Amino acid sequence: MEKIRIHGNQNLRLKGKVRISGAKNAVLPAITASLLTKDKIRLKNIPLVEDVHTILTLMKELGANYNIKKNSLSIQVKKIQSEQASYDLVQAMRASILVLGPLLARYGKAIVALPGGCAIGSRPIDLHIHGLEKLGARISLEHGYIQAEANKLHGAEIEFEKKTVGGTENLIMAACLALGETVLKNCAREPEISNLCDLLIKMGAKIDGIGEETIRIKGVRELGGATHEIIPDRIEAGTFLVASALTRGNIVLTNIKPDQLDTVIEKLKYSGTQIEKLNNHSLRVVGSEEIRPQDITTSPYPGFPTDMQAQFIVMMTQASGTSIITETIFDRRFSHINELLRLGANIEVSGDKAIVKGKTPLSGAETIASDLRASASLVLAGLIANGETIVTEVEHLDRGYEKLESKLKSLGAKIERIKE
Ligand code: UD1
Repeated sequence: MEKIRIHGNQNLRLKGKVRISGAKNAVLPAITASLLTKDKIRLKNIPLVEDVHTILTLMKELGANYNIKKNSLSIQVKKIQSEQASYDLVQAMRASILVLGPLLARYGKAIVALPGGCAIGSRPIDLHIHGLEKLGARISLEHGYIQAEANKLHGAEIEFEKKTVGGTENLIMAACLALGETVLKNCAREPEISNLCDLLIKMGAKIDGIGEETIRIKGVRELGGATHEIIPDRIEAGTFLVASALTRGNIVLTNIKPDQLDTVIEKLKYSGTQIEKLNNHSLRVVGSEEIRPQDITTSPYPGFPTDMQAQFIVMMTQASGTSIITETIFDRRFSHINELLRLGANIEVSGDKAIVKGKTPLSGAETIASDLRASASLVLAGLIANGETIVTEVEHLDRGYEKLESKLKSLGAKIERIKE
C-alpha cells in the first residue's frame, strides 16, 4: 500500500514553476471517441494518470490497439471485438460509461455495467439512458448491466432535465453517427466537452453550437482519423493556485488556459491572492499574508467547479473569519471534512453547506483519502499542518493527478511517497 508523507509547517512558502498536465476529464471522452472510427486517433498532451490506464484497459477489451509515447497516445479500433464494459472497470471508474454512446452508434450494441454507489453520493445515469432512447436505442437493465441495442440511431430533439457533463458527451458522440439532425438542449458547457467536439469535428463530425447550451449535430455516415491536443487540466491548475495561496507562495503555472479558470481566479483574488496573467499559457500566483473569508457555491461551468470545493475548504480554514461553502452538484461530497477535523479544522456540515471557521492552525495526523479531490485537499492541508501528515489510500489521488508529489516537491514542499 502506498501512502504520502508530508512534513508540513505554517511557514512553508511554495516557490518556482510548475507545468500543468493535460486534462483527465478531457482525455477520457477523447479516448472513447476513438470507438467511432476504424481509423487511428492521435492524442497529444495526455496526462499519465490511473484513470487513463483504466479506460485503456477497457478499450483493449473492446478491440482497441494503442501505443503511448511520453504524453502522446495513438489508438485505433479497427474492429469492435466486444461490446461489454465489465462491472470491475465501471466500478473502478465511472467514466467508463462514456463507451455507451460510441459503441451503440458504431456497433449497434452495448452492454455496460450500471455504476454502483460512489464515494461522492448517488450518481445516476438516467439522463444518458433517456437521451439514447430518444435517439432510437432499446435499453433494458439485466443482471446489473445496461443492455442497449439499435439497428440505426436517428436524430432527435433532447432537452436535458439537468446539466450533465458525461451525459452531454455520450449523446454528442452517439448523435455524430445517427441519421439526420440531433438538437441537444440544456447541455453542460465544460471546456472538456468543447475539446471533445473539436476532436469530433476533425474526425468529420458536423457540430454547431460548441460551448453553448444548445448543440446541433448533423449525423454523418462515418468518421475518420485525427490528431488532437488535449486541453490543460483546469482542476490540477486550480489545485496549484490554491497551494500557492495557502502557503503565501509565489509560483508560475505553465501550460494552462487562464480563461478556463476565470471563476476560480476571481474567488482567489477576492481572498487576497495576487494573480497575474503572464501570457495565454501561464500565470503567476502570489499568496497574501491574510486570506479573506468568502461564501462559495458550486455550479456547472462557468460556475465554481465542484472539483475545486475540497481544496477551497482547506484554504478557508486559514481565512480570517467564517466562510460558507455550498455544494449543489453532488450529495455527500464532504467526506474530506471529517479528515480535516482530525487535523484541527473547525468546520460544521449542515445539509449541503460546510461552515468553515478560520483561522485555525492545523496539526499533522494520519488521514484517509476517500475520493480524488478529497485526497488532493488532504495533501494541501498537510503542507501547512505542523508536523507529519500521512495520506493513505493514495490510489484515489493517482486516478487524476500526474506526479502531484514530485511537482509539489519541486516547489519546496517536504513530501514523499512511501510504501508499506
Ligand atoms: C463529470 C466529471 C467530474 C465532475 C462532474 C461535475 C468527468 C470524467 N468527470 O462527472 O469530475 O465532478 O462532471 O462537474 O468528466 N446526473 C443525473 N443523471 C444523469 C447524469 C448525472 O442525475 O444521468 C446528476 C449527477 O448525479 C450530478 C449532476 O447530474 O448530481 C452532474 O453530474 P455529471 O455532470 O453527469 O457528472 P459526471 O459526468 O459524472
